[in-house]
Amino acid sequence: MIYHIPWIYTPLRTVMAIWHQLIKTEIPELSKGSVLIRERSRVEETLQAMRRAGVSSLQVISDFDRTLTRFTHNGKTVATTHNILDNRLLMNEDATRKMKELLNTYYPIEIDSNRSAEEKLPLMVEWWTKVHELLIQQKIRKDMLTQAVKESNAMLRDGYKEFFEHLAEHQVPLLIFSAGVGDILEEVIRQNQVFHSNVHIISNYMDFDQTGVLQAFKGPLIHTFNKREGALSHAAGLRELQGRPNVLLLGDSLGDLTMADGVSKPHNILTIGFLNDQVEERKELYANSFGIILVKDETMDVPNAILRYITSSRDNK
Ligand code: TMP
Ligand code: MG
Repeated sequence: MIYHIPWIYTPLRTVMAIWHQLIKTEIPELSKGSVLIRERSRVEETLQAMRRAGVSSLQVISDFDRTLTRFTHNGKTVATTHNILDNRLLMNEDATRKMKELLNTYYPIEIDSNRSAEEKLPLMVEWWTKVHELLIQQKIRKDMLTQAVKESNAMLRDGYKEFFEHLAEHQVPLLIFSAGVGDILEEVIRQNQVFHSNVHIISNYMDFDQTGVLQAFKGPLIHTFNKREGALSHAAGLRELQGRPNVLLLGDSLGDLTMADGVSKPHNILTIGFLNDQVEERKELYANSFGIILVKDETMDVPNAILRYITSSRDNK
């Protein structure tokens, strides 16, 4: 309505234009070709509000596989935490074949834009359960995990060091919320020397017997489409995350959007979605679901630029 009053319309438009320009110059990475933003002004308002509130109000919640890790490198798919276990030190050929068959059956379902999350949910439980049973049968040895990670092609996204270091430096908690394998995830970030004290992890952890052989997985199963339950039962209880109502959320699956459901009284939530695969089929859905989408972008450039912007407030110095 107010837009129709000419005397107020012009100054308002000028202020908005200056504001857009400001964000554009302060976060030039948002103009990268890989960036897609449906509601630019809303994202910009959220960014400004998060900056005004400062680092003490901020927490970062991130998925792991294909969010903090790359999707591809040199044309090859990078191993997820589950797939890192596919190593002769841990599994025999037959188990490898079975795990690949399961991946080929269920991964297309996970990313199918024509199926709802409700439809996918029981199938994801089926996938994870079958894989975990297979791993238990293989009598995976705890003392071989470090070597398996070293031999894998697991790789964090370009710019990961700045991401982890920046958060650690500003004492911003980073909650990594993963449906992958926690023990492997920890090993990946440890080997990359970024497992700082501000990092908290919710994931599927292995339970080893007294001789160091895998006998079960601990706690309730986490898969891509039940992160909401994990967020409500685990994340809500993490003391370090209390009193931080602004959330930067990173994910690569629509299921990752529920990772902030455990945050009590959230003020601003900015979501960034990595769209790695099935781009054309999923672009529309992702653009409607995430604040910012990064299409086939193997870097942390945009999250890093956003963190630099939020933490560069005068109050934070
Ligand atoms: P994330 O929550 O850290 O992304 O981890 C879950 C991903 O792991 C999900 O995208 C599917 C993938 N996955 C495999 O690559 N292999 C497997 O055997 C299973 C069960 C999951
Ligand atoms: Mg993922």
